[in-house]
Amino acid sequence: MDFQATIDADGRIEPRDAMPDGYRKTLIRQIAQHAHSEIIGMQPEGNWISRAPSLRRKAILMAKVQDEAGHGLYLYAAAETLGVDRADLLDMLHSGRQKYSSIFNYPTLTWADIGAIGWLVDGAAIVNQVPLCRCSYGPYARAMVRVCKEESFHQRQGFEILYTLCNGTPGQKAMAQDALNRWWWPSLMMFGPPDTASTHSEQSMAWGIKRHSNDELRQRFVDMTVPQADVLGLRVPDDGLVHQDGRYRFTEPDYTELYDVVKGNGPCNQQRLSHRVKAHEDGAWVREAAAAYAAKKEARAA
Ligand SMILES: [Fe+2]
Ligand SMILES: [Fe+2]
Repeated sequence: MDFQATIDADGRIEPRDAMPDGYRKTLIRQIAQHAHSEIIGMQPEGNWISRAPSLRRKAILMAKVQDEAGHGLYLYAAAETLGVDRADLLDMLHSGRQKYSSIFNYPTLTWADIGAIGWLVDGAAIVNQVPLCRCSYGPYARAMVRVCKEESFHQRQGFEILYTLCNGTPGQKAMAQDALNRWWWPSLMMFGPPDTASTHSEQSMAWGIKRHSNDELRQRFVDMTVPQADVLGLRVPDDGLVHQDGRYRFTEPDYTELYDVVKGNGPCNQQRLSHRVKAHEDGAWVREAAAAYAAKKEARAA
């Protein structure tokens, strides 16, 4: 079956199938950006591993941050099936030629931020990624199935951190509210610009890479999250929020902030990137040792 017939029949495109150049390029850009987001996303939370309030919380947070590294690895492997090298993708990240999700350019100021990230950021990631399990490119879709299962665990652990704080002292509850106030708007921006301003969406929908528009996904996230805020006893910081005909009407975030952070002017852009580059350089000896070991094993086998 040729490419278009497979897409029309809602089938899967596999690595050796013929595909238009634009399809390949779009997927490489999207999967790489997704992989970069997973590994950069380890930083705001890694920031709290040493300060988690108990051994149990520390163990859970370490496991979560490790999961994100694993997500990065599945995704780099999926991108490699399209004929690119992960070293080149990392190089593009380090030199600023490829992006990662802007949400990770915000700082984690208190322990409640770790709860808010799990609840809101992993929650938004799930809303974005569940439809990707049906993406037309097979390796990406299959990677997403496992990623989504782990993300739903992350979302629950974040909610549980906030639930504990919200049922603690007034000071703890205020800390949870403050975290929601700061993370709400950036979380809404995770779905990208509004449909009227989104540049890649239409073609990605036609190719079966994207299944829902940015605004549809944003609405789904709000509808899912507001009742959960009610359970926590927290107030979503939006005066325009009203429940109407089974859904929530809400105020759109300030997208000029999104564009500004994408451009590199968020509170932590420089710190995140320089930390990543340093971690990569510090890890050079591991890559060299692994390559030397592999070469030796090969020579022995020959
Ligand atoms: Fe992840
Ligand atoms: Fe996650």
